[in-house]
Amino acid sequence: MKLKSIRFLFLLLQGNHKVEDACEMYARAANMFKMAKNWSAAGNAFCQAARLHMQLQNKLDSATSFVDAGNAYKKADPQEAINCLNQAIDIYTDMGRFTIAAKHHITIAEVYESELVDIEKAIAHYEQAADYYKGEESNSSANKCLLKVGHYSAQLEQYQKAIEIYEQVAMNTMDNPLLKYNAKEYFFKASLCHFIVDELNAKLAIEKYEEMFPAFSDSRELKLLKKLLEAHEEQNSEAFTEAVKDFDSVSRLDQWLTTMLLRIKKTIQGDAGDLK
Ligand SMILES: *[C@@H]1O[C@H](CO)[C@@H](O)[C@H](O)[C@H]1NC(C)=O
Ligand SMILES: *[C@@H]1O[C@H](CO)[C@@H](O)[C@H](O)[C@H]1NC(C)=O
Repeated sequence: MKLKSIRFLFLLLQGNHKVEDACEMYARAANMFKMAKNWSAAGNAFCQAARLHMQLQNKLDSATSFVDAGNAYKKADPQEAINCLNQAIDIYTDMGRFTIAAKHHITIAEVYESELVDIEKAIAHYEQAADYYKGEESNSSANKCLLKVGHYSAQLEQYQKAIEIYEQVAMNTMDNPLLKYNAKEYFFKASLCHFIVDELNAKLAIEKYEEMFPAFSDSRELKLLKKLLEAHEEQNSEAFTEAVKDFDSVSRLDQWLTTMLLRIKKTIQGDAGDLK
């Protein structure tokens, strides 16, 4: 197989083929590199094929090849993967194919999330994907992206943004019989973000959420919030920890919730910001 791929490259280098043939050969070479798990060579060959497709005005084929290039590069060169996927996105948006453009924005966001650990950029791509989904009325896909934006914005201490997003998603879901069960979780998360910034604001927000969504009133999340507000008002770290532990013993708190609760607890005077 290695010999074969070398033969193909040799043919390519001769350069006396029609563009169509060259395009075809790049695609075949790319697939061979893929089989040989030579990801950067595969990405490069798909990318060449994509450029030639563009020369031939085969926009969709070009976009597909850029996506193939992106997927190959993902395993070797994340930044190059993003460049290729962005080129595919440009073609798709140009053609009005926003749903598929959104999907590739998510792929880029995931590369920023896990390979490059650039959370700001991941947020920007999730937001762009959410915008495109919203425009196509794919509300539940939009919400999924927005939840990522809320999650990371709060982690980066961009609480106002996180609050807006969680409120928006909660309101999008609370009237949907299939999704409304989740609305209380989003109101809970918005409340926690408020609480980190300002206890009084948190109180007001929570009252507003109860009015908007009466099911929130009966939730364990709301009971926890009320206990935490009380403990915070009394500057009582122990009561705060106790309330958190009670809640955690029934439904396990994940990493994000734990982080936010610790940030709130740290605003109690003299608190070390742990849950001991
Ligand atoms: C991948 O292919 C390229 C082009 O043939 C070659 O230069 C490179 O050494 C190969 N890399 C690996 C890891 O086999
Ligand atoms: C999607 O959301 C928009 C605005 O929130 C709303 O007007 C529309 O009816 C929703 N579409 C669906 C299919 O739920």
